[in-house]
Amino acid sequence: MMTIIRAVPVGIGHYLPERIVPNSEFEKMLDTSDEWIRSRSGIEQRHFAAEGQLTSHLAIEAAKDALADAGLEAKDIDALVLATSTPDQTFPSTATKVQAALGMGASFAFDLQAVCAGFIFALANANALILSGQAKRVMVIGAETFSRILNWDDRSTCVLFGDGAGALILEAQEGTGDVSDRGILATELQSDGQYNDLLYVDGGVSSTQTAGTLVMEGKEVFKHAVTKLAQAGEAAMNKVGVTEADIDWIVPHQANLRIISKTAEKMKVPMDRVIVTVQDHGNTSAASIPLALSVGKKRGQIKKGDLLLSEAIGGGLAWGAVLIRW
Ligand code: UT7
Repeated sequence: MMTIIRAVPVGIGHYLPERIVPNSEFEKMLDTSDEWIRSRSGIEQRHFAAEGQLTSHLAIEAAKDALADAGLEAKDIDALVLATSTPDQTFPSTATKVQAALGMGASFAFDLQAVCAGFIFALANANALILSGQAKRVMVIGAETFSRILNWDDRSTCVLFGDGAGALILEAQEGTGDVSDRGILATELQSDGQYNDLLYVDGGVSSTQTAGTLVMEGKEVFKHAVTKLAQAGEAAMNKVGVTEADIDWIVPHQANLRIISKTAEKMKVPMDRVIVTVQDHGNTSAASIPLALSVGKKRGQIKKGDLLLSEAIGGGLAWGAVLIRW
């Protein structure tokens, strides 16, 4: 029988900062309401990092949770890919700070930036590292402190985002080449820089030498999201010949409950097969999918052998999907 290498999930974990901010807190400082935020986005609360609590700190806690879940130690991991748009510093990479704090041995670590699609891009890269033999065990982290780049005077964006981190450990294992294999079965990545202006941060190292704050044409991004997410999901499934009926769980980027449900509807997957955490976390950008995977597993929803389809879209625009058997 033919054997091939697959990147198989062996551990998942997450971390959320202690401070929980309910929608009602925004009513005190902005012309908004809990009712508007809930009905337009599905968000009820989000977590915000404490002063001095950095993206790397959230990532380290999520990584420890994933290592415990896998029954592995940091020295067992030979590569770390960290997706973030809110790094601790311009450089070095936040990934190398996590690498040092965990006490990983001979290994390499780097950051990857594809905004809200960051975890999908990181998974595809980790998969490629494993399939090409460059790494045997890869820690893939999505970690963000979006609270640091929000414009607190812009009610149309600052109520939508939150902080958090999730981590997934992938391991090279032999498979048969069939879709019954555990591990990453297909990846689909897309971006289109024509849409840079729909979602961006108005600062940066080379332009303003400041971090800047987030600007979004919400309605426009919303329209692109539903079509492009469904298309990316279909493309990933078509690559290996599976259909919606085979999917046990959609684990989508958690930006807006209406985007999640409209995409599921377009893909003809009922909402009882969709992992939803946006009500508790808000939009945590690159952290939202690993957070949803970890919470979905801890809730007892995601089980070994389940077929998962994850999809995400964000600034760029950049979007994509990953099909993975848990
Ligand atoms: O993760 C990266 C990708 N990002 C996304 O996927 C986000 C995509 N977009 C969205 O989720 C939605 O477009 C939003 C949640 C951002 C907005 O929902 P919407 O249904 O598209 O609302 P809208 O922007 O059309 O705004 C409707 C109204 C406006 O008032 P007028 O112009 O109709 O009088 C806004 O000024 O709601 C107003 N509004 C608010 N009202 C109360 C906007 N923000 C608020 C607010 N509270 N916080």
